[in-house]
Amino acid sequence: MERILVIGANGQIGNELVVALALQHGADNVIAADLGPRNPFGAAHYEAIDVLDRRLVARIIDTYGITQVYQLAALLSVTGEQDPLKAWSLNMDGLLNILEIARERTAAGRPLRVFWPSSIAAFGPGTPQDNTPQQTVMDPTTIYGISKLAGERLCAYYFSKYGVDVRSIRYPGIISFRSPPGGGTTDYAIAIFHAALRDEPYQCYLLADTTLPMIYMPDAIRATIALMDAPAERIVIRAAYNVAGLSFNPAQLAVAIGQQRPGFEISYAPDARQAIADTWPHSLDDAAARSDWDWQPRIDLAALVTDMLANVVVVPREVGQVA
Ligand code: SER
Repeated sequence: MERILVIGANGQIGNELVVALALQHGADNVIAADLGPRNPFGAAHYEAIDVLDRRLVARIIDTYGITQVYQLAALLSVTGEQDPLKAWSLNMDGLLNILEIARERTAAGRPLRVFWPSSIAAFGPGTPQDNTPQQTVMDPTTIYGISKLAGERLCAYYFSKYGVDVRSIRYPGIISFRSPPGGGTTDYAIAIFHAALRDEPYQCYLLADTTLPMIYMPDAIRATIALMDAPAERIVIRAAYNVAGLSFNPAQLAVAIGQQRPGFEISYAPDARQAIADTWPHSLDDAAARSDWDWQPRIDLAALVTDMLANVVVVPREVGQVA
């Protein structure tokens, strides 16, 4: 029986992952953790903890007899640029704390399986942008991307040196309707739905032809759980797997929304986020994930747009308009 701790449970991925894991393992076997008060989702247990407090995290892991940890607490690409040292400290020390706890438990015969998210932000201007290979140049320009690349190497290091069973995905931009947009360069693709459902035009902070790899949340959750459930011997890559969902640019997304919301309008006013997006891939080669643990995306652009328009709960402009 697995007992699962999700750190960063109130975040965009965390709040949906907790629900999916509770369905799979039973709500009593999922412990949600984050700073501050809980969100009212899936898990039976909630702990207010800071991932930077290693002793407290270790105590929670022992108290609940945790067998798997998802360490999702992080600052993203845009918020990271506002406070680079805080982003470095949270993103790196948060991961190191979990890897160290897993190293100790593994050495003591009580292994912990760890999931940690990497990102397309780990790539940079020297990376081939089309069908970006699994193994390629990685020269990230944001503090977030630098922390993701360093984190990938830490994951590979803790696996090869200490046998820690750590697994990771380079997530594309994740599109979802439960969390308000904000914090990421790819979040225009969420904010645009809030504008459409307010019957307002959307002013996009990226240019019309800025193609980025994206994934719809149900596919992202499925990929994450499939990777964590795969037998250890099939996980050949211990840094992070490329995982592709779909790729599109703001103009294509606006057209797809317009097909379901006639009259929807978009305009373009690129800001500093354009420079970040320009260094990221257009599309990813995820052949390794497909062959190692049978990854297959399911959700295309039309299905994504239909589902988002049906489910987004519109947030007020000042929260939802990330531009
Ligand atoms: N969605 C993230 C961001 O834009 C990328 O991992 O920062």
